[in-house]
Amino acid sequence: MNKLMTQKSTGKLWALAVAMMFTMVGTDGLVAQTGDWKAPRRSARKRNPMRKDASAVLAGKAIYNQNCLACHGNTGKGDGPASAALNPKPRDLTSPQVIKQKDGELYWKIQNGRSPMPAFGSSMSRKQIWQVVSYLRRLENGTAPAAPKPVTDARSSVTSLLDQYFDLQSQLKVSGWDAKARGTASKLARTASSMGELAKGDKKQKALWAAQKADVARGANQLLAAKNAEPVAAFEIITKALDSLVRTFGHGETEAVSLFVCKMGKDKAGSTWLQKGKKVMNPFPWGKKMPGCGEELKSYAPPAKIKSRP
Ligand code: HEC
Repeated sequence: MNKLMTQKSTGKLWALAVAMMFTMVGTDGLVAQTGDWKAPRRSARKRNPMRKDASAVLAGKAIYNQNCLACHGNTGKGDGPASAALNPKPRDLTSPQVIKQKDGELYWKIQNGRSPMPAFGSSMSRKQIWQVVSYLRRLENGTAPAAPKPVTDARSSVTSLLDQYFDLQSQLKVSGWDAKARGTASKLARTASSMGELAKGDKKQKALWAAQKADVARGANQLLAAKNAEPVAAFEIITKALDSLVRTFGHGETEAVSLFVCKMGKDKAGSTWLQKGKKVMNPFPWGKKMPGCGEELKSYAPPAKIKSRP
């Protein structure tokens, strides 16, 4: 509250400054009347390195909700809960005036602020500012990822995650970590992030659902960040999370879903993956040299009965 009050009074000061500028500039109307706020040309020219990056948009959304929503509102219209106390009012970030600006200009404004909007240059990294710019671009054209809807049927949600996981698994097996696999990983990250909380179920189930589906998204995003590195560790995060989800909520695949391990994998613990059918489908790089490396640890039969092997 204290912070807001200072912002409010600095806002008044600012209004005074604009009024003074208006008298000084006189007939050079546009600048003064609108209190035009312009980024330096050099900053405005900067390219957004992650404009079309789906995971950047999602990261930007989280940053926005935490740092900007209070003033600019859920959909960017400038109607956030703190906006009433502010003068000037937070700008509508979906207005033509904002839409026409370059990414570099928005970047500069977020970085530097203008009272009562704080400067974020010291509290946010460059990457985070570009992420939030990417999100603003989606807000303004109405394609921002919607707030996740509560999940009413956990089993079918698990199944759709599994379907994408199996796509990824076979792509990794056939051609490795290429553009196609990256596309699937990105889709998996989006699918998992677009799933909301569990609507029904007890407290424990709800917590498990939230944690594990977040891990699916985290693993997939980590895969995407891995560039050309072997994607093993990130893939296993997804495997572990899906294994736990299948164990708890079941799956709707027509075949059994099995957890396999290749003990010759990266360390003594081996590496694990989920697959359909009994034929070993080791998706890891060493699976190419040793396609037969793998044994079944457990199997989840359709419809979701558990047969465990020690
Ligand atoms: C304390 C309230 C507040 C917060 C928090 C805030 N803003 Fe603002 N924002 C404003 C106000 C007020 C303006 C209008 C400033 C002006 O025109 O002098 C503004 C203006 C802007 C503009 C410039 C629009 C234009 O017309 O050029 C952008 C872009 C923007 N905000 C983005 C953000 C982002 C992104 C965040 C979070 C990282 C954020 N704001 C956080 C209040 C806020």
